[in-house]
Amino acid sequence: MTTKPVFDVEAVRKDFPILNREVQGKPLVYLDNAATSQKPQSVIDKLVSYYSEINANVHRGVHTLSQEATDEYEGARSKVRKLINAKEEAEIIFTRGTTEGINLVAQTLGVQRVGEGDEVIISNMEHHSNVVPWQVLCDQIGAHLRVVPINDDGELLMDEYEKLLSPRTKLVSIVHLSNALGTINPVKDIVAIAHQHDVPVLLDGAQSAPHLPVDVQDLDCDFYAFSGHKLYGPTGIGILYGKRELLESMSVYQTGGEQIKSVTFEKTIYNDLPYKFEAGTPNIAGAIGLGAAVDYINTIGLDRAEAYESELLQYGTEQLQTIEGLKLIGTAQHKSGVLSFLLEGIHPHDIGTVLDTQGIAIRTGHHCTQPLMQRFQIPATARASLAFYNTKAEIDALVEGIHKTFEVFS
Ligand code: ALA
Repeated sequence: MTTKPVFDVEAVRKDFPILNREVQGKPLVYLDNAATSQKPQSVIDKLVSYYSEINANVHRGVHTLSQEATDEYEGARSKVRKLINAKEEAEIIFTRGTTEGINLVAQTLGVQRVGEGDEVIISNMEHHSNVVPWQVLCDQIGAHLRVVPINDDGELLMDEYEKLLSPRTKLVSIVHLSNALGTINPVKDIVAIAHQHDVPVLLDGAQSAPHLPVDVQDLDCDFYAFSGHKLYGPTGIGILYGKRELLESMSVYQTGGEQIKSVTFEKTIYNDLPYKFEAGTPNIAGAIGLGAAVDYINTIGLDRAEAYESELLQYGTEQLQTIEGLKLIGTAQHKSGVLSFLLEGIHPHDIGTVLDTQGIAIRTGHHCTQPLMQRFQIPATARASLAFYNTKAEIDALVEGIHKTFEVFS
């Protein structure tokens, strides 16, 4: 019998140089991973080596540097394809991030598929970046947004979702893992149900890609968008996965260099996938850095990271529930490492400020999910969000920080 190696969090932490720093004279306790995650040394080194040894434009030059840069850039695409088990590299489009991926689909497939009086389904727990692009599309076209409601634990009401689907539904776009609640949605079912109505589904994977093993073929989603910077990679780079037949059928998003085959003043012929959607010089360093992040994640193993984070979440939930006057927002059965909470009588921004004096970084506010805050009739929460380099000792520091916050405001 083989036993799985124990997850050695102390060894993992050594890979992240920033975790050694102090904030306000205290060791940094970084619990804002849903906003952006920290970067391992291997990703930082990759960016430095790209700029100091290779830097050149891609797909354009016969010279050695350009070929090396192209190999690294396309190598990163291939690593991402494997990470999410897409069928082919052509289905992996480099974007600026999740937001751009969603906007791209809304302004191409959305414009083509959605007509006046049609409907686009989203949910009550969407990030603004999975609300506003659809709202804009609906306004342009005279279509309507339909919103899947949630229960008080922050779980989607699947019966209501099924009821919302109709011949007028032209697209479904749902978050896989909620940034504000931590809820993991039953996306495989969501996709299967939509497909019974011939409706394509986009999954917002901004929070799931860094924390859950994702297999886009198994999920059968039509699109899956995520960001590099939450996946331990650089900012300004992201991925839009799309099924080939849909990407082929879609009109272009941005136009210009790179995404064309030939141009005359009379007619332009667009390039093949994925380049058709990659106008202009791409974020080459970002893509290569993302490739290094994927390599790093593979050494950790997302399944092992998920198991460890889930243990940490359980510990954090238990500890926070012992605190009188604390209320957790987001108590779904199926959850990943987000602890959103309120403290009786204290504004979340004040919680964040006191915790910062203890070296503890959390996010406070509406988390770009104002309709969700309205659902809970609250303006904001304080949110601790976990990554696989966090420890139980850091959860203990958070608990101590919360007690200190109560003292300050008592
Ligand atoms: N969407 C990111 C967050 O939840 C920025 O913090």
